[in-house]
This record gives sequence, C-alpha cells and structure tokens, in this order.
Amino acid sequence: MAAFHGCALVPTMGALHDGHGSLIRRARLHGLPVVVTVFVNPTQFAPHEDFGKYPRTLDRDVALATQCGADAVFAPAAEDVYPAGPEASRQEAEAWPLPPVACEPGLEDACRPGHFGGVCQVVARLFDLCRPAVAVFGEKDWQQLRVITAMAEGLAGRWPGLRIEPASTVRDPDGLAMSSRNGYLRPEQREQALGLVRALQMAASAQRPATAEALMRSTLEAHGLAVDYAVVRDARTLLPVQGFERPTRGLIAARLDTVRLIDNMALPICR
Ligand code: PAF
Repeated sequence: MAAFHGCALVPTMGALHDGHGSLIRRARLHGLPVVVTVFVNPTQFAPHEDFGKYPRTLDRDVALATQCGADAVFAPAAEDVYPAGPEASRQEAEAWPLPPVACEPGLEDACRPGHFGGVCQVVARLFDLCRPAVAVFGEKDWQQLRVITAMAEGLAGRWPGLRIEPASTVRDPDGLAMSSRNGYLRPEQREQALGLVRALQMAASAQRPATAEALMRSTLEAHGLAVDYAVVRDARTLLPVQGFERPTRGLIAARLDTVRLIDNMALPICR
C-alpha cells in the first residue's frame, strides 16, 4: 500500500494544559492538518481508578487546542470508538497482543495491569479512524510512548509510513511535570509532589544505577511520597541496566494519598 498523507494527530484524554499545547505546536511543524482527539478511554482504567472523576472540560479543551493551532478536535462518543459495546471492548483490550515493553519491565504494566491493553486498543482505533501520517505523544508517559512506538512498528503494514513522534515533558516553573492529574493535588501537597523531579535530578548526579535508585527512593520518602517504583532502566527496552554506558532513563511512580504521579528523565551517559 502507498504511504498516505494524512493528518498530524495528537491523541489526548482532554483536560488540556500547556503540556498538550506543546504537543499540538510540535504537530504543527509537519505542515499537515492537526487533529487533536479528546476521549477519556474507559478500557485503560481499572475499576478502582479515576475514570469517573477524570476532568472533562471539552469547551476549554477546544479553545486551548484552537489557540495552539489545531485544525480540528475530534471528541468521539464511546459508541463511535467502541461500536461493539463496553463489554466486548473490555474483552478486546484484555486480549490485546502487547509488545514486550508493555509487559516485561514491571513498571506501569505491573502497577496497572490491563492498562496498556486499553491504551493500545484505543490508540489503534484512533489511528484507524484518523489515518495520521504523524502522531505526537509526550515523553512524560515514557513507557506509554515506548509501547505505542513498538505497537506502530509491529503493525507497520496497518498504518504505512506512520511516524510516532516524542515531545519533551513540559514543566511548571517549580519543576513539576505538567499533568491533568496535578489538579487533584491540594495546595499543600504540591511541595511534596516536587519530590519526583528532585529525585530524578539526584539520580542524574549518580555514578551507578544502584546508587541512583537509592537516592531517588530516599528523596521520595523524605517528601512523604509512597513509592510504586523508582528505577533506572534502558531507555528503549525499559529493562534493568548495570551501568550508564547506554541511554538510560530514571523512571518514577509515587503516590500522595489517592493521587498517583509519574515522571522520568534521561540520565547522562558515562563510559
Ligand atoms: O496519554 C493519554 O492521554 C492517553 O493514554 C492516550 C494516549 C490519549 C490514550 O487514551
């Protein structure tokens, strides 16, 4: 099949902030029509997670997307994305054939079983519906970015020529990575939440992965955060590493009461 000249796609779950704005601006660089999707995907949430309370702010999202240069906002109903209905779509997500990076690292895959099945399912569906030439995803969800890249490589015949483009994490002036879930933080929790970026900065100063991991954990704990993981991994496979001779990434997930935050950072290569 010939390569197609589609749109530049920015898939989102809405509640857009400046981080999404930077994805949209990045998508614009391709000179293609920019389509932002807004869909809070039920199949990537476990029953105890925040699907019900996830912020839904479509009017503001349309305004922000337009201001950042989007040509269209596609906000489908669940029936449009999953015509077979909720039960069948959940079963399809559970059976989704995942690439190794979605099930071997023991990171989000272990903390949120079933999550990447739902992410791959909805992203594949959005690719089928919108036929993008480029799709932009934020580095903030590093494992998600790797999973979607691996899925697109594995299914290259389904979306010929499709390029998955990463966009750097956007941080507030204090360093907190922008996230729609930051809105759940009480004002006094913000200082604690900064433990994530501080832990990653500490990791960047370490000479060995084991030292970096210990530093990250102690920094997170000093901020009163409950640690899901704080690890140094191969940036591509997300598997453990012995040294810093290849591109590595510090990756963290930590909780403040019911708010779960993730962040990550490239660590310096030293031979
Ligand atoms: O990163 C997100 O907002 C979502 O996981 C995505 C990629 C839009 C799929 O629902």
